[in-house]
Amino acid sequence: MKIAVSGGSGLIGSALTRTLERSGHDCRQLVRRAPRNAGELEWRPERGLAEPAAAQGLDTVVHLAGESVAGGRWTAARRHRIRSSRVPATLRLVESLSALERPPRVFVCASAVGYYGDRGDELLDEDSPAGDGFLASVCRDWEAAAATAATTCERVVTLRFGVVLSAGGGALPRMLTPFRFGLGGRLGSGRQYFPWIHLDDAAGAIRHLLDHGEGPVNLTAPEQVTNADLTRSLARLLRRPALFPAPTPALVALFGDMAREALLASARAVPARLLDGGFTYRYPTLEAALAHELQHRGSAPG
Ligand SMILES: NC(=O)c1ccc[n+]([C@@H]2O[C@H](COP(=O)([O-])OP(=O)(O)OC[C@H]3O[C@@H](n4cnc5c(N)ncnc54)[C@H](OP(=O)(O)O)[C@@H]3O)[C@@H](O)[C@H]2O)c1
Repeated sequence: MKIAVSGGSGLIGSALTRTLERSGHDCRQLVRRAPRNAGELEWRPERGLAEPAAAQGLDTVVHLAGESVAGGRWTAARRHRIRSSRVPATLRLVESLSALERPPRVFVCASAVGYYGDRGDELLDEDSPAGDGFLASVCRDWEAAAATAATTCERVVTLRFGVVLSAGGGALPRMLTPFRFGLGGRLGSGRQYFPWIHLDDAAGAIRHLLDHGEGPVNLTAPEQVTNADLTRSLARLLRRPALFPAPTPALVALFGDMAREALLASARAVPARLLDGGFTYRYPTLEAALAHELQHRGSAPG
């Protein structure tokens, strides 16, 4: 298949591109600058494809681009960038893809388990309603923008990612730093569910969904863990203490809504559609995923 990926320089996009190329697919990058070679197609978040003629013949588009959500306190300017790089940018991209003589058959768009908001220990599958808060509202509108592709595509898939674990980037390296200094500990009560997926499984699941998926899909591991479980696993694998819980008021004072919605919110999101569709995980358990990442990157002691 001829597949274009936006956000291809990011954590998931670069792993996905490697996975797709290894499977023999012809991968193009949707880049936000002038193309440097035949493998790149230019798009702009504010106006979609720059040269629609160059995008003819794509079978599938995987749209992952978006301003980082975890990059710090959500100031008004940052909220604007988080939303505008997703909702109107997805609408513009879909408009320009739909106007092609032969639009892609499949449109796959990122979203996040942030869709569900803070839901305690409720089991959340893809039919569960959206929650409250800034992230939930961005995810809801982002998925609605992606769904407009259904007028010309055979299938639209939205990827509700849990936290993607890789020692090479994203959340995990940030979590490891306090442990390395012996200052690790749970966040808040630690009772909040921590939805996660290993990077290889996230990329493998997207490849699987190119053939089988439709509608929203939770990209999370089958093993559900809390923040306290995660903290214990990190401490054990790194052989460091986990004696320094970060209290909720301190996290909220430091990071505001980002702490409430991304660090302290509980989303027990189950991958019902991936399991029903027969997807096989390489890392179904947190301990296996973390052990692989820490050994692989030489981060484990001993
Ligand atoms: N990683 C996770 O744990 C996780 C969890 C939930 C949801 N997600 C979602 O999945 C998608 C991919 O995640 P990721 O971890 O690969 O993200 P990432 O590493 O931050 O990469 C995102 C990519 O989007 C592009 N981008 C950055 N700022 C942008 C902006 N203002 N407007 C348009 N494009 C911009 C960049 O690619 P180019 O420079 O190549 O355009 C960047 O490399 C994101 O939309 C993210 O919200 C990720």
